[in-house]
Amino acid sequence: MHLGIIMDGNGRWAVQRRLPRAFGHKRGASRVTEIVRICPDLNIKTLTLYAFSTENWQRAAHEVASLMKLFRGYLQNKFIELVENNVKVVFLGDTKPIERDIVLQMRKLEKATCNNDGLTLNIALNYSGRDEIIRVAKKIAKDCKSEILKIEDISDNLFQKYLDTKNQTDPDLIIRTAGNQRISNFLLWQIAYSELYFTETTWPDFSPEILKNILEVCKNRIRTYGTTSKKEKLIKSLNLNL
Ligand code: IPE
Ligand code: IPE
Ligand code: MG
Repeated sequence: MHLGIIMDGNGRWAVQRRLPRAFGHKRGASRVTEIVRICPDLNIKTLTLYAFSTENWQRAAHEVASLMKLFRGYLQNKFIELVENNVKVVFLGDTKPIERDIVLQMRKLEKATCNNDGLTLNIALNYSGRDEIIRVAKKIAKDCKSEILKIEDISDNLFQKYLDTKNQTDPDLIIRTAGNQRISNFLLWQIAYSELYFTETTWPDFSPEILKNILEVCKNRIRTYGTTSKKEKLIKSLNLNL
């Protein structure tokens, strides 16, 4: 399955402890490592983490700088572990505003892991769903103009092939930590039929144990994609009677 996580609440976690917000981000980064490691055991084939939105640049310069420092450190320190653990890393988002050395490390990691076939780890960095859709629209328009595509070719399927998540399945479940019940510009195209789960736990307090419990709770949700399936209704009623 494909799981997406909006890792929220780092700042609140720190403020509640009278610590600078950067401490919350640091602790949040160590949670990423734990969650990435547990995914194969939980049958999660793709994990998409929302690390930094296109709107997050508007935060105080020192907070943005501390986040960039963390990304830089993550890319350096986790490189070998990700390669050796058969993780395929894909970055979602627009790399243009990101510092050059970080982008080079991102490309290096993508290249080094591109043939791995274990967990696919999508890291959304300078990402927003609207920005992704606009980038797709521009690429499609360009390909129509240069006659690589015809307007009639544009379909759901074709659009998917232009997304940062091209050739991946859509998320089955999106979890947002820290209590806010909103999407904040995460994967807008891809979450059309995703299940949503909101937890009060902040990201620095999240754990593999909490993830296991959420998956347990969500596994009985029946997805009908706009249809009514007799078979699924039957399963549901059987579950209710157990
Ligand atoms: C999520 O935590 C991390 C990023 C957005 C980069 P926040 O920093 O948004 O934490 P809160 O929401 O302020 O508590
Ligand atoms: C969403 O969280 C972005 C990430 C988790 C990277 P934000 O904290 O930036 O979003 P809002 O401000 O609550 O909508
Ligand atoms: Mg937040």
